[in-house]
Amino acid sequence: MPRLNSIADLERRRSELLADHAADQPCVTICSGTGCHALRSDKVNQAVVDELQRQGLDGRVDILRTGCHGFCERGTIVTILPLG
Ligand code: FES
Repeated sequence: MPRLNSIADLERRRSELLADHAADQPCVTICSGTGCHALRSDKVNQAVVDELQRQGLDGRVDILRTGCHGFCERGTIVTILPLG
């Protein structure tokens, strides 16, 4: 990704990302903060990727690695959007 040097660059990049993403596409978020990473969030991520592929849904569901949600002791935190 090219370096963003101005607000105009940032707005252009935002428009590009929004154009590439369907607003109604489901998304699985997987916390990758320090606590969840220590609890092997990488394995959870791989399991989600594998299951989406197995069900033929890869490319139809976004997977987003996030930062800490503040519930580290309950990790790995996973949410499914828009279901919450
Ligand atoms: S690191 Fe995942 S909730 Fe804090």
